[in-house]
Amino acid sequence: MKDASKYYLKCVKCEHITPDFGAWFEQNQVCPECGSKHSEVWYNSDYNELPLIIKGNPISFWQYFYYLPLSRQENIISRKEGAVSLQNWWFLEDFAKEKYGLDISVQVYRNDLNGGTGTFKDVAASLAASIFKENDIKQYCVASTGNTATAYARYLSIAGVNCSVFIPDNALKASEAVISAFGQQVFRVNGDYAKAKEIAAEYSKKHNILISIGNIDPIRVEAKKTMVFEWLRQIERMPDVYIQAISGGTGPIAIDKGIREIKSVYPDLKNPRFLMVQPDGCDPMVQAWENAEAKGFPEGFENDYPIIDNPQTAVPTLATGNPATYPIIAKLVKESGGTFIRMKESKMIDYGKLIAYERKVILGPASAVCMAGFFEALKKGLIKNGETVLINTGEGVRRAPDFVDEMIYTTKNVNSVEDCKPHMIDDYRKQLWDAVLKD
Ligand SMILES: Cc1ncc(COP(=O)(O)O)c(C=O)c1O
Ligand SMILES: [Zn+2]
Repeated sequence: MKDASKYYLKCVKCEHITPDFGAWFEQNQVCPECGSKHSEVWYNSDYNELPLIIKGNPISFWQYFYYLPLSRQENIISRKEGAVSLQNWWFLEDFAKEKYGLDISVQVYRNDLNGGTGTFKDVAASLAASIFKENDIKQYCVASTGNTATAYARYLSIAGVNCSVFIPDNALKASEAVISAFGQQVFRVNGDYAKAKEIAAEYSKKHNILISIGNIDPIRVEAKKTMVFEWLRQIERMPDVYIQAISGGTGPIAIDKGIREIKSVYPDLKNPRFLMVQPDGCDPMVQAWENAEAKGFPEGFENDYPIIDNPQTAVPTLATGNPATYPIIAKLVKESGGTFIRMKESKMIDYGKLIAYERKVILGPASAVCMAGFFEALKKGLIKNGETVLINTGEGVRRAPDFVDEMIYTTKNVNSVEDCKPHMIDDYRKQLWDAVLKD
């Protein structure tokens, strides 16, 4: 028996109520009243319990089960995701102090530590797999630049759900390999991410198979909103500044939803300033923002954005050339007092090397983009004295072995022991910092 009263979905446009995900799937994930795909989940759970639950010691985001849209705990499919650590990265704090005279706290949200596939897509995949199990869904499909595809492929396999995955032609081989190895169907589309989405949508229609509805998908949003709970648990506050590499932008949408949801128990919480980072190879949101800024943010500015066909970027994960969610994201960013930041792709390896050296953590390319955003933000004066900055690193290097190959810099080719001398690790520091700081 399902406890149908735990949660319901409410249309963001017309407030029509859909009782649960069973009904939501039956009505093909759209509002039957107005046709909008954008519904949010709300709960009849007691929010007075939340502060107590937040004090717990979770092994996954399922700690927040009362505030997730699943009726029965036995349907949970989890691989220890969503309770990853926020780490204080002192070397970045020291840098901000030395170079800019700022006393700031820098917290890095280590999504590479997620148990499923090591990216910040694991929570959504875990929730999706669990909801599909509960609702007896056996077929699903998703278009993705790589990480969502990989996470969904794994978790849906565990739940016994067939998942067809549409990836663009520039998606990383390692993503394709992992999905395929799980026995899930890969369709590598001749074209960009927009094309992959188009074919996936047609496939979904033709075979009557449910499809992920993108960054506003209530499953993704509900999973990711638990970040807010996790930050309250780990640093007992919201950061002042939030930095993320953005492609479609579930992150800010989910943070905003999470904060609105718990207003009754945390009335003072507000969105951090969203600093959204894009690589210069695919930066339609940054372009749109700069254009709006130059015009003084005229009425309706959020609906004016460029579409980049076949974006040429070294970070396929972030290759959303048609940023359909920009209207939603741009408004959130504007209200938060944040902005969009461009980084130079040509410097990604330099950032990767510096982080690996200083922190002994090897990031993936999209995370290097995010890190670059922190340095750019400091340079542009976007971070103020006394603030807490949260850097949401979405992935480790697992999915991009070529990226780590490019980080080799201490190798010497030798013929005999005469060629080999002991080294001092500190001797490398200056060259690594210089590479990051030069323009
Ligand atoms: C590691 C990583 N960073 C950032 C992003 C961008 O996330 P979003 O599409 O929610 O903007 C992605 C999305 O694939 C990702 O995998
Ligand atoms: Zn509606």
